[in-house]
Amino acid sequence: MLNWDDPLATPARKQDRSKAQTPEAIPRSAPLPHASGDQLQDTADRAGPPRTDIAGRAPVVDSNPIAIQPDLALREFSPGVDDSTPDRHPPGQTAAGGATGLEDLEMGAGRVRVDDKRIINCRADLNQLVPFKYDWAWQKYLDACANHWMPQEISMNADIALWKDPNGLTRDERTIIQRNLGFFSTADSLVANNLVLAVYRHISNPECRQYLLRQAFEEALHTHAYQYAIESLGLDKGKIFNMYREVPAVARKAKWALPYTQCLADPHFTTGTPENDRKLLRELVAFYVIFEGIFFYVGFVQVLSMGRRNKMTGTAEQFQYILRDESMHMNFGIDVINQIKIENLHLWTADFKQELVHMIREAVQLESQYAHDTMPRGVLGLNAPLFDEYLKFIANRRCTQIGLPEQYRGVTNPFPWMSEVLDLKKEKNFFETRVTEYRTGGTLTWD
Ligand SMILES: [Fe+2]
Ligand SMILES: [Fe+2]
Repeated sequence: MLNWDDPLATPARKQDRSKAQTPEAIPRSAPLPHASGDQLQDTADRAGPPRTDIAGRAPVVDSNPIAIQPDLALREFSPGVDDSTPDRHPPGQTAAGGATGLEDLEMGAGRVRVDDKRIINCRADLNQLVPFKYDWAWQKYLDACANHWMPQEISMNADIALWKDPNGLTRDERTIIQRNLGFFSTADSLVANNLVLAVYRHISNPECRQYLLRQAFEEALHTHAYQYAIESLGLDKGKIFNMYREVPAVARKAKWALPYTQCLADPHFTTGTPENDRKLLRELVAFYVIFEGIFFYVGFVQVLSMGRRNKMTGTAEQFQYILRDESMHMNFGIDVINQIKIENLHLWTADFKQELVHMIREAVQLESQYAHDTMPRGVLGLNAPLFDEYLKFIANRRCTQIGLPEQYRGVTNPFPWMSEVLDLKKEKNFFETRVTEYRTGGTLTWD
């Protein structure tokens, strides 16, 4: 089954959530389970009662989430150096973490068993894909391959004509396109570099790595898509690609995320201690749940909204395919996070959960600020307060997905059409382009 369901877009699964395998529900002496996609892709009960926080208190409701807090300015934030112990290993000393896949061959060693496999700190040979333990990871790899697409298969002719027409777009609409191309063109490279230089070597499971390799290629495709759009429209490449260093609204999000990946990319960093395993979890939350799961969504809504109004339809279609990929990336990351939790119950402490809640609330404020900065006057029927509501809605979903309490009471989704955008099969010709089907094998069908 293809799985590009964004939990945002998916009705609550008909599953007795009380039977889900949560870390809290599993006794320490029980064998470690491995989670299925259904078990891990938690879906919130939208109509359910307000959740309590970690300590059992009533959920905290942000009274003024729009105004960015002083401590969210471009400050120096170093998640990797908050612990006093560096956990470094001198040359020649065995690292605490798991295998890398590059160890010397051990001739005649016992064959890999399913029970030997773990998401992190695994000692089993990482060059043997089978036997599978995490079927959900392999399935996501297969699903991602079935979704293959290439940016140049999407016609940009209408966009070029509209962009060149002096009366084709308003100044605010042009700002939205340029700011989002500025943010995403570098953000996807940042995500790709994070994957291959930081995350990959610390995930010690071959089927998960198989998905990571596919994801890395998709991130390259996304950067390609933005470059293709920038090139097609004849935009100033230097201006667009430097926005993340020159435009505060764009820079703020990358600046927030970078310390997390820098910590893991340190060649001396290994997992294998509670402190460092939490650093990895923190980083996975920062990139999969927040960067790809919150920081991308104002831009997605803005550009897809233009497509719905028959403006910049080629660019919007690129974003539509990217959104589907990103939804899968986020779901994979959430599954990995939850599997690490299941296998390492001791990591998921009340203090750590509170820290993650703080990160997510901080991210909502940053992304709300991005919405204000990219459309200060409101455009396309969208305005910043609507985005505030939307971001709180998806933040609640993200919290639920990784077992944290919802943070914002009574919020609903002001953009239900985003759910439809995710389902390309159901929404054929959504942007009235000629694309009629999304095919495995890399080619779109044109009428
Ligand atoms: Fe991407
Ligand atoms: Fe991604």
